Amino acid sequence: MKATAIAPANIAFIKYWGKADDALRLPLNSSISMNLSECTTTTTVEFSDSYKEDAVEFLDQEALTILSRPLQDCQSESLRVCKHLDNMRARAGNTWRARVVTKNSFPKSAGIASSASGFAALTVAAAEALDLALSEKELTMLARLGSGSACRSIPDGFVEWLKGKNSQTSYAYSLYPEDHWDVRDIVVVVQTSQKKTGSTEGMDGVRTSPFWNKRLRDMPDTIKKIKIALVKKDFRLLGETIESECVNMHAVMMTQKPPIYYWNGTTMDIIRSVCDWRKQGIPVYFTIDAGPNVHLICEAKDEQIISKKAREIAGIEKIIVNKPARGARIVSEHLF
Ligand code: DP6
Repeated sequence: MKATAIAPANIAFIKYWGKADDALRLPLNSSISMNLSECTTTTTVEFSDSYKEDAVEFLDQEALTILSRPLQDCQSESLRVCKHLDNMRARAGNTWRARVVTKNSFPKSAGIASSASGFAALTVAAAEALDLALSEKELTMLARLGSGSACRSIPDGFVEWLKGKNSQTSYAYSLYPEDHWDVRDIVVVVQTSQKKTGSTEGMDGVRTSPFWNKRLRDMPDTIKKIKIALVKKDFRLLGETIESECVNMHAVMMTQKPPIYYWNGTTMDIIRSVCDWRKQGIPVYFTIDAGPNVHLICEAKDEQIISKKAREIAGIEKIIVNKPARGARIVSEHLF
């Protein structure tokens, strides 16, 4: 009763910000994303009647040391993992406790959200270890209960998460495989000392923004544009739609009560640079999640020049160049 899975993080072209149902994690709107080749989580899960309690271990990428172990420490991240395991055990009619060991391909300090890749890998590994024999669609529905964006890390390539009306109709599926279009996401990791508001907590306040309703009303049209851009491989339409959708979400965040400002000075410097580079004829667009890091979306042919320019910006820590990637899958090598 042991299995290991690897899952990519994903970058949302259409963002998920706000829930229609908190317990079921049903989103207010459908969203669309691309899996990231260089930002992955690997997780091994073992269920055994010899374990007295669940244990969650986060391996540090650099030191390969255990960051947290006993659940008595009650890290909220670990508790969320255990709640998810309870969900999965209930489905399997199993009560055995589990040992979970997990590691990210990117350092925790990079500030890249790991809940999408983390809950996708956990769901796929635990389902296999419990012998649940679930379809991809069912796996995405289960992963969604752990973290909404995690459902988009299970199917391959470019993925849509349908908002649905209930748990059965809110799932993710692949719009196109990873080799459909050779676009890149260059993540510019920004130095920061800010304490972050997590996305779960942050999106609780979405309805206090005067703009959230407008955003939802425009959403079907925004989704249509992204789908046309993907089918026609129209990079300009893709980039313009991604960028305005991101700024739209941040306008909601900044006008919530209390407001959330995820950007810092370096984030603004990168945004201005992207606008300058476009004026110089380089097709590049930005998108930003719940933090100060900037994702630069470009075509493969422009990756080198944009990476070079991005590295020259003051206040950045590092860049991570991603290609579109496969979704979550079982691997044979365990972490313990
Ligand atoms: C800004 O999936 O982390 O990255 O469902 O509460 O775990 P929970 O939220 P989460 O939210 C992601 C928010 C976002 C946009 C996106 O990825 O769509």
